[in-house]
Amino acid sequence: MGGEAQLPTHLEPNHPHLPSAPISHNLESPMTETTHPSGLTDEAIADLRARAETAAENSYSPYSHFRVGAAILLDNGQIFAGPNVENASYRLTICAENTAIAKAISEVGPKIHVVAVAVANLNGANSMPCGACRQILLEFGSTSTWIFGPGEDGPVDIQLGDLLPHGFKLKQE
Ligand code: THU
Repeated sequence: MGGEAQLPTHLEPNHPHLPSAPISHNLESPMTETTHPSGLTDEAIADLRARAETAAENSYSPYSHFRVGAAILLDNGQIFAGPNVENASYRLTICAENTAIAKAISEVGPKIHVVAVAVANLNGANSMPCGACRQILLEFGSTSTWIFGPGEDGPVDIQLGDLLPHGFKLKQE
């Protein structure tokens, strides 16, 4: 699944979440290690997934008992993670993805760009970002943003544009 090989545009060179060597497409010198189409190393993706799982341990979910965590990777290499926060007035519940976004903005400011998001839950269930979260992630990412979540048949990696085709963007005159 996924799109064309594509490195996040603004990541610092030699950042630990980037592959140490440039991706080679030269068929005469085949790649010795596999690289995910996101440009992230398998290690970086596993780290993001692990941070999402750790964040889920702080879940406040006395109503659903569904313990979710999300970790977002910004284009500057910073990672922010958070859990879902429920409320007795159910519809006020904050999804884990939204918590992570709010944490990033509160620390970095409004100009964040999300290049990847990992979602995890401690219930052993599939849980890709809900529709509302897809729209929130689009606000601070792009159709190229990678989503790593637990799907119905195991880990899923997919780009946001495939999860949320024709997502809403406000074009003001
Ligand atoms: N939840 C998330 O945290 N993220 C999603 O994308 C889907 C749902 C939470 C909200 C609620 O606390 C629980 O999962 C059950 O819906």
